[in-house]
Amino acid sequence: MNKEWGDVFRNMTLKELNELPFLKEFPDHFPNSLKHFIQSCEQMSLNRSQEITESTEIPLEMRRNISAKKLHEISNMATVVSSLYNKNDCDLVIDIGAGLGYVSELLSKVYNIPVVTLEGNESHAEKAAKKLESSKIKVYTLRIDDSQLVREKLKNIIEENNSNNTCVIGLHCCGDLTVNILRLCSQINVSLVCLVSCCYHRMSKWPMSSKLTSIFKGPLSLYGLRLGAQETRIRWLNQTENDHETHVRNVLYRAVLELFLKNKGMETLKKTKRRLVRREERLSFAHYIDDVINRTEFSSLWKEEITQLYRECEEAENMIEPITCLQVMLQSVIETLILIDRVYFLKENGSYDVNLLNVFDDKISPRNVAIVMEAKKML
Ligand SMILES: C[S@@+](CC[C@H](N)C(=O)[O-])C[C@H]1O[C@@H](n2cnc3c(N)ncnc32)[C@H](O)[C@@H]1O
Repeated sequence: MNKEWGDVFRNMTLKELNELPFLKEFPDHFPNSLKHFIQSCEQMSLNRSQEITESTEIPLEMRRNISAKKLHEISNMATVVSSLYNKNDCDLVIDIGAGLGYVSELLSKVYNIPVVTLEGNESHAEKAAKKLESSKIKVYTLRIDDSQLVREKLKNIIEENNSNNTCVIGLHCCGDLTVNILRLCSQINVSLVCLVSCCYHRMSKWPMSSKLTSIFKGPLSLYGLRLGAQETRIRWLNQTENDHETHVRNVLYRAVLELFLKNKGMETLKKTKRRLVRREERLSFAHYIDDVINRTEFSSLWKEEITQLYRECEEAENMIEPITCLQVMLQSVIETLILIDRVYFLKENGSYDVNLLNVFDDKISPRNVAIVMEAKKML
């Protein structure tokens, strides 16, 4: 970070840092370049406030063992899908990457909508089939890609279920799944698509639209895509002092360990336990390294050497939250780019109304934007 920006950040309180991505008026001592960066990030980011005011009441028997976050997501998703389904006179929902089929179950139980689920992972599909045994929902095991074979299989499923006006949905379609569903659906005749994505860093290709391909010289790096899938500005605003402390500690300890391994010519450590270190508040670096020694091949003979490296790096801890704050501002720009690329792609490849709809409260669920594609009706 350059000295001018560093000087500003060094004198900021954590509260000021939390509010920085939302700042509209800037103190006189702020360098113009920093003002410009903050204003540009704001201008290049979509508004993410939730646009859905009603949610679907989830029957008590369905609530067991589901997190509050998931309940919020399936409830809002079901509300949005049922309303779009009716608006577009659909006759079938295909839930792709359905996992255990929570949304499918809700649509079927509460709205009596005919639903089938498609799941690429056999073990998930088996569990879903068992869970949905008593419902009318059919579970198909199918790994979606954009090949002709999958396109034909999807068409067969539509035919098999006597659908003329199909609605395709997906909640948290990770990596390439969203991209592949959009490609497939732009090639076959579906009436409606409603998808919420996640894990952009698992995408193998970006951008997908000709528009953004012509603007960007190359793809976003893995690091850029990962940044797009990180915490949002609103969640940053609500970080407590304790959250910041824990984050600084985790990042610094991990960075020192990575630097040490790199200096030793090692890339990773083989773990003997699932977690590298125990979850403990205010874990000291000495205890962190003891955990690493006990749970990996890391030699206890290196303890003094890595502790020395930690002391040399300790000063950097003051810059961890400022840099994270800059990343949070870029996160919304990158996610906006990923989303509008998909909108352009659909507009370039068919006659659709395409919208982005903020379906969840982004304080609860950071990936809260659904891409909605509605086939234009012939008059
Ligand atoms: C993040 S989970 C979401 C599950 C479910 N939609 C939910 O919200 O509870 C993503 C799911 O998509 C499935 N999936 C990923 N890639 C897939 C593909 N190419 N074809 C079909 N399913 C896929 C995974 O196996 C996983 O069950």
